[in-house]
Amino acid sequence: MNKPQRTQVGIIGSGPAGLLLAQLLSRHGIDSVIVERQSRAHVEARIRAGVLEQGTVALLREAGVSQRMEREGLVHEGITLAFAGRRERIDLRKLTGGSTVMIYGQTELTRDLINARLAANGAIHFESPALVVEDYLSEQPRIVYEQNGQQQELHCDFVAGCDGYHGVARQSVSADKLQVFEKLYPFGWLGILADVPPVDHELIYANHERGFALCSMRSPTRSRYYVQCALDDKVENWSDDAFWNELRRRLPAESAAQLISGPRLEMSIAPLRSFVAEPMRVGRLFLAGDAAHIVPPTGAKGLNLAGSDVFYLSRALIAYYGEGRTDLLDRYSATALRRVWKAIRFSWWLTSLMHKFDDDPINHRLQVAELDYVTGSVAGSTALAENYVGLPFEKFE
Ligand code: FAD
Ligand code: DHB
Repeated sequence: MNKPQRTQVGIIGSGPAGLLLAQLLSRHGIDSVIVERQSRAHVEARIRAGVLEQGTVALLREAGVSQRMEREGLVHEGITLAFAGRRERIDLRKLTGGSTVMIYGQTELTRDLINARLAANGAIHFESPALVVEDYLSEQPRIVYEQNGQQQELHCDFVAGCDGYHGVARQSVSADKLQVFEKLYPFGWLGILADVPPVDHELIYANHERGFALCSMRSPTRSRYYVQCALDDKVENWSDDAFWNELRRRLPAESAAQLISGPRLEMSIAPLRSFVAEPMRVGRLFLAGDAAHIVPPTGAKGLNLAGSDVFYLSRALIAYYGEGRTDLLDRYSATALRRVWKAIRFSWWLTSLMHKFDDDPINHRLQVAELDYVTGSVAGSTALAENYVGLPFEKFE
């Protein structure tokens, strides 16, 4: 083992949660080191989420990494719900008193954050998997990680576990200290990325008897589409043509007629799950983002929840180093979890409303009735809109 390194906040994972936390801390003079299992190229190539809530956008501005997003991101004021051959627009801006969402790929955001980190000479050790977090109940927690085949130690004041669902931070905590809640959905999403103009200028979420479909985008020339698929389905089972045909069948006729297809840049399948580990802080180990919770993607909340966790955690750490306060660190878990559970609930509700769960026709009729209600009622559509644009962060100071 080499000589241990030291930092104030040791961060495991260079996804959006870890990178954004490091960036916000560095602007307050707080030192951090990120250890990341994958290579930089791998991290920058992952295709994931695409919808940013206003709170996330504001946090990116505060972190000083919003310039390219402001230039290239697309501000969306509404979404369309398609069902029973109908298309009903939810006017997010009108229903929420002015809120909108930003379409900007997680891939681009990750690149911006890595560039900002490296420009500020911040440490990221790529290809350096954390193995375990030790002594998290003491005042000197340590991250044990591997680099170039050698075991290393990072001694910290605090450890931020931002290493996603499969990471080691949560797994380092003894089972009796965490309560885990989990729900697996009986289907996945098959996604395609293609350089074709989007079928519509806003997103379309489609409920169909054959299963859910989503039309999203990354830019005016790049589309991201999804169809619900079986849990055991494989990308190898899908030709480009098969994907486009299935998507067309699940869209209302007017949208299907406008759909432009093209060769895939990427195709992947993601399973859908809800998962929460409580509490999000054990001793000096703090979990943030997917390390602590997973939502099914329907509500576009995964990345945004990573953002709200980092909002609370960064403020708690800044208050600790700036003013010697520990009260915000103590309140982190309960405060973050209140918002997490509301997003878990919303994502579960929208998933239940939009997907095919079984062949019983009564269930589809019930979904159509609820969609008819939600889109026809100001109360119903407002509840959807205010959750979709993102519930406000709690005051935390
Ligand atoms: P991650 O982005 O997962 O980052 C964790 C980082 O930790 C990774 O870089 C990983 O390599 C690293 N890591 C893991 N283990 C270790 C270790 N032992 N040591 C060091 N580093 C480690 N959300 C949506 O809203 N819409 C979507 O369409 C959508 N699609 C998704 C598709 C997929 C395949 C996945 C996995 C997620 C998707 N999500 C989506 C969710 C969204 O992308 C996540 O919520 C978001 O990435 C959370 O950010 P994070 O930083 O918490 O975790
Ligand atoms: C995208 C993903 C989502 O889960 C969602 O609800 C909206 C958009 C996307 O990848 O663009």
